[in-house]
Amino acid sequence: MEKRVAVLPGDGVGPEVIEAAVKILQVIERRFNHTFKFTHGLIGGSAIDKHGNPLPNETIALCEESDAVLLGAVGGPKWDQSPSEIRPEKGLLAIRKHFGLFANLRPVKAVPSLLQASPLKEEVAKNVDLLIVRELTGGLYFGEPSRRTENSAVDTLVYTREEIERIVEKAFELARLRRGKVASVDKANVLQTSKLWREVVEEKKKGYPDIEVEHMLVDSTAMKLITNPGAFDVIVTENMFGDILSDEASVITGSLGVLPSASLRSDGFGLYEPVHGSAPDIAGQGKANPAAAILSAAMMLKYSFGMDTEAAVIEEAVNAVFEDGFFTADLAMEGQRVLSTKEWTDKVVNELDIQSVSD
Ligand code: NAD
Ligand code: IPM
Ligand code: MN
Repeated sequence: MEKRVAVLPGDGVGPEVIEAAVKILQVIERRFNHTFKFTHGLIGGSAIDKHGNPLPNETIALCEESDAVLLGAVGGPKWDQSPSEIRPEKGLLAIRKHFGLFANLRPVKAVPSLLQASPLKEEVAKNVDLLIVRELTGGLYFGEPSRRTENSAVDTLVYTREEIERIVEKAFELARLRRGKVASVDKANVLQTSKLWREVVEEKKKGYPDIEVEHMLVDSTAMKLITNPGAFDVIVTENMFGDILSDEASVITGSLGVLPSASLRSDGFGLYEPVHGSAPDIAGQGKANPAAAILSAAMMLKYSFGMDTEAAVIEEAVNAVFEDGFFTADLAMEGQRVLSTKEWTDKVVNELDIQSVSD
């Protein structure tokens, strides 16, 4: 069956890593006899430059006609001084909100061949396999009022019971498919929203007697994520805490350039994007690690298209390329050969071809 994919490369390294992800999807298409129809659209700074709007109506229409969205990254110094309504990041928040993508899944899995690049000790980083379930359409990012005057500024943190219930349920369901442990992260010693969050988790857990639930405060979670990351299975948390903890968790794996994500609602439609941003410091130089984008494409196959085997095949190929000692600059150690984005992607293509011969 044909699957329609809206491709939104965005800014900075976005187009470089998305080109790589599409290339890998095209290999999967041939090998498994699927048809993916890729249609490109604008978001972020590139959309502001062309339409004066970080999320033009035609991009929304394109996504509405698609089965899933593959997104690179948005933002960059060029637009940093723009008024807040027409910043690239607004386009990203608007697309998440428009499509009701409340559940952001950010898996963090240690790969043995990357441990050399992690600043953590090998015995701390190895065996890490955790999933951050980040609430994505509420909290500080969307609360009103949000405004600025010359000498004061306000942002508002609001959560409704319903918003918390659906993300907590999602986390419990996902934990059931994993090791059955959920750490619910909040700041209930201070925030009203966190007190409500805890209350909802306590209610919901009654329906999941098989799940082990722990409440944790976000500050000490940040510490534990680095000192004992292996202790975590599923972490469920609100929007901003999840944003911060997921970048922190990327150091376990060695680079932000390998962390994928899926932003989902309840019906299978999803938006898939790397956790990293537009990386202006390395954009346009062929230095970006495309693994996060490629693994995000794999998540798309799994969560939106039900193609679990195809997703696993991509993950295996990516890991095999690391295992063979091929790295982009973010992961290579001194003296190791550094591959460009394209060269590294081609290694994954080769690996997929080798696997296919042995099928
Ligand atoms: P960033 O994630 O873009 O970069 C942080 C660091 O990680 C940089 O040193 C960068 O070179 C490195 N890095 C990121 N992706 C990499 C990759 N694929 N391969 C190798 N190295 C990589 O975060 P930032 O610098 O704080 O933000 C830059 C811009 O990106 C800002 O405008 C920000 O708003 C935007 N941003 C967008 C998204 C998104 O679109 N989802 C996410 C985060 C930040
Ligand atoms: C992310 C990014 C975004 C976020 C920004 C660019 C709005 O940091 O996807 O992690 O904070 O959600
Ligand atoms: Mn982030």
